Amino acid sequence: MNGRVLVTGGAGFIGSHIAEAYLRDGWEVAVLDDLSRGQQSNVPKGARFVRADIRSPEARETVATGRFDVLNHHAAQIDVRVSVDRPAFDSHTNVVGFVNLLEGAGEGGVKRRRGLRRSHHDPHPGNRTQAPDFPLWREQACR
Ligand SMILES: NC(=O)c1ccc[n+]([C@@H]2O[C@H](COP(=O)([O-])OP(=O)(O)OC[C@H]3O[C@@H](n4cnc5c(N)ncnc54)[C@H](O)[C@@H]3O)[C@@H](O)[C@H]2O)c1
Repeated sequence: MNGRVLVTGGAGFIGSHIAEAYLRDGWEVAVLDDLSRGQQSNVPKGARFVRADIRSPEARETVATGRFDVLNHHAAQIDVRVSVDRPAFDSHTNVVGFVNLLEGAGEGGVKRRRGLRRSHHDPHPGNRTQAPDFPLWREQACR
C-alpha cells in the first residue's frame, strides 16, 4: 500500500529515517516538527515540511485537513532529565500533544495511526500486553 502519510518528529533521528523509507516506497510524505530538537536539514528531500508544535491548533488542523492515510507519530520530548524536572511539560507534549493529533486524525478521517508511544518512559514494557480500553489506542496497539 502507498498513499499520503504525515510523519511527526520527522526532523529528528527516528522520524527522518521513517520519512525517508516512506518516500523510497513511493508515498507522498509530509513532516511535522517544531524543530525544538530536530533540524530541518534532517527532513528528507521530497517531503513537505510543516513547522508546528504538536500541541497547537495548527498541528491539529494539519492532520485534519491533509487527507492523510496514515499518521506516523514520533515527535516527542525524549529527554528523561526534562521529564523528571518538568513532568507537566513532558506530559503536555507526550500525552496531550499526541491526543491533539489523534483528534485531528479523527476529524480528518485518517485511516491508520502509528507511533512509538510511551517507548522511552514505560518502566515495565513487558507488562503491557493489553491496550487500554480506548478505541484509538486499541487500534494502534493491534497493528
Ligand atoms: N532514538 C532511539 O534510539 C529511540 C529508541 C526507542 C524509542 N525512541 C522513540 O522514538 C521517538 C523519537 O525519538 P528520536 O530519538 O528520533 O528523538 P529526536 O529528539 O531526534 O526526535 C524527536 C523530534 O520531535 C520534535 N519535537 C519535540 N517536541 C515537539 C513538539 N511539541 N511538537 C513538534 N515536534 C516536536 C523534535 O524537534 C525532534 O525533531 C521518541 O518517542 C523516542 O522515545 C527512540
